[in-house]
Amino acid sequence: MANAATGTDPATVLSALPAPVPFKDVVVGDGDDADASVLEECAGAAVSALPSNPKLFLRRYLGTWVLETWVPGIVAIQRGFAPRRGDVVLASPPKCGTTWLKALAFATMARGAHPPAGDPGHPLLRANPHDCVPFMERLFAAGLGSKVMDALPSPRLMATHMHHSILPASIAENPDCKIVYICRDPKDMLISMWHFSRRIRPDLAFSDLFEAACEGSCLSGPIWDHVLGYWNASKASPERVLFLRYEEMLRDPVGNVVKLSQFLGRPFSPAEAEAGVAMDVVRLCSFQKLKDLEVNRADSGSSPLGGVIREGAFVNSSYFRRGEAGDWANHMTPEMARRLDAAMEERLRGSGFSFS
Ligand code: A3P
Repeated sequence: MANAATGTDPATVLSALPAPVPFKDVVVGDGDDADASVLEECAGAAVSALPSNPKLFLRRYLGTWVLETWVPGIVAIQRGFAPRRGDVVLASPPKCGTTWLKALAFATMARGAHPPAGDPGHPLLRANPHDCVPFMERLFAAGLGSKVMDALPSPRLMATHMHHSILPASIAENPDCKIVYICRDPKDMLISMWHFSRRIRPDLAFSDLFEAACEGSCLSGPIWDHVLGYWNASKASPERVLFLRYEEMLRDPVGNVVKLSQFLGRPFSPAEAEAGVAMDVVRLCSFQKLKDLEVNRADSGSSPLGGVIREGAFVNSSYFRRGEAGDWANHMTPEMARRLDAAMEERLRGSGFSFS
């Protein structure tokens, strides 16, 4: 359908918009990485001096609990991340729907070049979402941060588990950079994290994770601070921070994709709405569709670049388990659930946000 004012077809306008490129396809040079000096510094005493939770391999950095191996990456991001106009940062605590959000944001942004239905060459059909959107902490910790991010064409999508409070100002206070946040009922997040972690630590006791979460010292903890940081930022700057919930996305995926597209500045046109393109995006990124793809069933298959920046044993299939809300009830006693709920409620009280 042509636009009466301009005579242009919305599909033509859309296909002229640049699409994100899977970061695993980016070719980087051999030169030194700009972040090398930070990494060298952190390899010394800096990390080992931080408070630790050795059972979970965590360190407390600026009030937030992070994997020890991420600390150098976080410092490198804070010192050296070079923002670009139009950057989109996908933020989340781990195991809250990051994979899904990566796929949805990528498919939404790329839909001009790659229609979500009927394009056999769609990047998401051949690449795991984590190979399309880089995880910044690991990328920078691997000494590839500035190199890969500089080589990645705009629009750039990137992901982080950092608390809002430790994001560099080049992201948090940048009017040209958008943040999409997703969180999830912490009970389901913990169960998901436990299953995921047991792939490399079969002996990990759920009670260790649970106690740490209640005390605020689990991975990405305190979880209430993680959520509150982005919640408050989304209230203060709704045009820059979009706050999403995993359970809400499950309940109304199309409505949330429409919201996402508007926030990203690429709303669905009336012609797209009529053609059901938002639904096509949802279908392409659905749990079952992604889980069943050859690339995601494989127990390896990441690109060399993807392989470098992914935790070694976490193969593509490990990101797809059940994809539902409420699995906590199969693993936690009602008393445990009450305790974690109460810990969250106490800290979230008065914020205007609640998981219940
Ligand atoms: P479960 O372990 O509860 O199944 P993350 O991507 O942040 O690591 O989160 C992983 C959780 O999201 C897992 O939850 C996983 O199954 C679920 N997930 C992955 N892809 C999904 C999708 N396309 N739709 C819904 N949930 C998805």
